[in-house]
Amino acid sequence: MTDLAHRYQELVTAGELRPDPDQKRAAERLAILQAELEAQPARGSTLWKLLRKPPEAPRGLYLWGGVGRGKSMLMDLFFDRAQVKRKRRAHFHEFMLDVHERLREVRKSESGDPIPPVVAALAEEARLLCFDEMVVNNMADAAIMSRLFTGLLEQRVTIVTTSNRAPDDLYKDGLNRQLFLPFIELIKQKLDVMSLNGPVDYRRDRLGNAKLWQAPNDASATAALSESFFRLTDYPVEDRARVPSEDILVPGGRSLHVPKSLKGVAVFSFKRLCAEARGASDYLAIARHYHTVIIVGIPVLGPENRNEAARFVTLIDALYEYKVKLLAGAEAQPDALYPTGDGSFEFERTASRLMEMQSDEYLAKGHGE
Ligand SMILES: Nc1ncnc2c1ncn2[C@@H]1O[C@H](COP(=O)(O)OP(=O)(O)OP(=O)(O)O)[C@@H](O)[C@H]1O
Ligand SMILES: [Mg+2]
Repeated sequence: MTDLAHRYQELVTAGELRPDPDQKRAAERLAILQAELEAQPARGSTLWKLLRKPPEAPRGLYLWGGVGRGKSMLMDLFFDRAQVKRKRRAHFHEFMLDVHERLREVRKSESGDPIPPVVAALAEEARLLCFDEMVVNNMADAAIMSRLFTGLLEQRVTIVTTSNRAPDDLYKDGLNRQLFLPFIELIKQKLDVMSLNGPVDYRRDRLGNAKLWQAPNDASATAALSESFFRLTDYPVEDRARVPSEDILVPGGRSLHVPKSLKGVAVFSFKRLCAEARGASDYLAIARHYHTVIIVGIPVLGPENRNEAARFVTLIDALYEYKVKLLAGAEAQPDALYPTGDGSFEFERTASRLMEMQSDEYLAKGHGE
């Protein structure tokens, strides 16, 4: 199999990717890591048994930069190509949910420090961990990150992660930040920190001049949204009938069916999101999971739709809070969506957010920031 740097070059030569010096550097570095990982003897093999102590884990990578710079694209290329049996790629937020869940389980049965057994289990499952979108914005995560990651590195796990922020800017202005500083030091010491921060936001580029808010919701709106989806996900239009769906976890142990879900982009109908009994926890789960959400079939709402309108307000608040990019097909412009009915006055704030969510400034913000 050709290594990652060659594959990257092939994509550039074929015109599928535009040449980008930062990406080239990162691809070359990831190719070295790929070779190092693949050169390690498999655990339990004869060679492995001959070693007096287990080999050092190859040094991982922290890739950071603005939105749409190609971090996830490169990490996915790397992850798919790396011939490593025990590997795991996770959205950082979901990984931390999983960690907290495991910590809770351990605490139920053991009285000691719960972190070491959780680290041991994670290290057993994967020797290569790739995290997409590392962002730390809550105390619960910040407080355990240093010990968790120290443990994983000690257990010879190689970590590759992407983030919109440089290590020094993680959890900036967060509560009790001093507890978090050792984690930043650890990252800088143990991982190669590389920026992927060229001038082009390729995601924005792919959206071209297409309007994010399509109104009215007619055939041309549907066509435009569908085209945006395929451009954003690099999915072949011929396979449109086979776009994968996904069930995402909602805190509380429920799950939510997402009819179209690919590369951090989700498509929903307004009906599914706002006409069923859904609430803030569902919307927050969506907002954390997807960097881009496409909502189709948004009707003009009236007094008889106050529940739908209230849910829509909660949904937009969640998407806005997590800086999710929103594309929509609606019967009207945001300020004419809910002209009369309970809460239509408060809806003005939602309309104003919807306008702001189409601005370049909003679109340049990192997911979950
Ligand atoms: N050199 C390139 N030429 C053309 N398209 C590119 C290039 N690099 C990335 N892209 C495309 O741009 C889009 C955004 O890339 P990607 O999702 O990897 O960005 P990101 O850095 O992870 O952004 P974010 O920080 O928001 O997660 C993807 O559709 C990707 O395939
Ligand atoms: Mg990304």
